[in-house]
Amino acid sequence: MKTTFYETDKLSTFLASKKTLLAKGVISQAGVEAKKLGARKVLVVTDAGLVKAGLVDKVRDALSAEGLEVGVFDGILPEPPARVIDQCADEFRAGGYDLCLGLGGGSSLDSAKIVSNLAVNPGSVLDYVGIDLLPKKGTPLMLVPTTAGTGSEATRVMVLTDEAVNTKKVVFSDFLLPDVAILDPELTLSVPPSVTADTGMDALVHAIETYVAVSSTPYAEILALQAIAMIAKHLPQAYAKGSSLLPRYNMLLAANLSGSAFASGGLGAVHGLAYVLGTEYHMAHGRSNAILLPHVMNYNLSGNLEKFANIAEAMGEDITGLSPYEAASLSVEAVYSLMEAVSLSPQLTDYGVSRDDLPKLVQGGMAQARLFIPNPRDLTEADVEQIYASAF
Ligand SMILES: [Fe+2]
Repeated sequence: MKTTFYETDKLSTFLASKKTLLAKGVISQAGVEAKKLGARKVLVVTDAGLVKAGLVDKVRDALSAEGLEVGVFDGILPEPPARVIDQCADEFRAGGYDLCLGLGGGSSLDSAKIVSNLAVNPGSVLDYVGIDLLPKKGTPLMLVPTTAGTGSEATRVMVLTDEAVNTKKVVFSDFLLPDVAILDPELTLSVPPSVTADTGMDALVHAIETYVAVSSTPYAEILALQAIAMIAKHLPQAYAKGSSLLPRYNMLLAANLSGSAFASGGLGAVHGLAYVLGTEYHMAHGRSNAILLPHVMNYNLSGNLEKFANIAEAMGEDITGLSPYEAASLSVEAVYSLMEAVSLSPQLTDYGVSRDDLPKLVQGGMAQARLFIPNPRDLTEADVEQIYASAF
């Protein structure tokens, strides 16, 4: 395992859920785990699609089997608006629930994370936007991802939309880490190929960004490099044969490791520059990140040739006998190949983005400049423009 961490006096923090269960069919343990946490009445926080897909029934059965009362809030929307989260929290408080279970992709998990805390802290989610503003730890929290991507079950952040100003806001708190994460690959079998591709690439971006970030830590490096190798190996098959359990299992684990990695090490310019594609073109989070990944990597190479060469190797490239720059460049080639394998174009024009919109993209990218700080290469406005331009 290639780690490059030599700074013994720099603080490293490792974050993960208190307990993580991983196995095919392990959702059946949800009731047992909820009872261990002292629960009697559980609110499942999810979206309508998962009710339709029958996944909520699986969770309800597991909880009911242990004699727990179960309620369902299925109104979570993508990039969850504050009003929806507040509505869910009101339901939790009024219903006498004592455990919050998030089921779904990043939006449902993020919502459940804050709802469990709003149960014991008054007011709106907007009152806690910022770093460590939640005064009290919430009710027990259980998270069950149904996509292999966000790694939200392993992080201390949640993202919401403040509709009043149409912008993304973030709550950071250790209280957002769950008591139990349940990773059951059977719950991801019905994810359609395009979502498998988008979410899997999001997990890859988490791992690559945190591995090369100047804020990386030994924990982040070790977990991220392993996750990169697993994603390169298993994402094509999870995409091509969604009903196949082994690639789904490995992708769920890799996304979880990537989540722990970036929780410990931070992200970078890919997430910064991708954000505007979500707000302006309503592109899925993972897809917008995937499109920009090879272009940002190409720009970043000189910031850490050794690490990019390690990424190339982890993704299966042979770097023997190559110069440091050639070896590093192969990481970008490996990403292009992976994107091709999951039918994702790295060109913005293929997603209806016009070259005339370049100034709007640059403005949106620069608004997320806080994410440039951990990036391995500095970015000016001209650099940002050049990266977007290379994606046309
Ligand atoms: Fe992401």
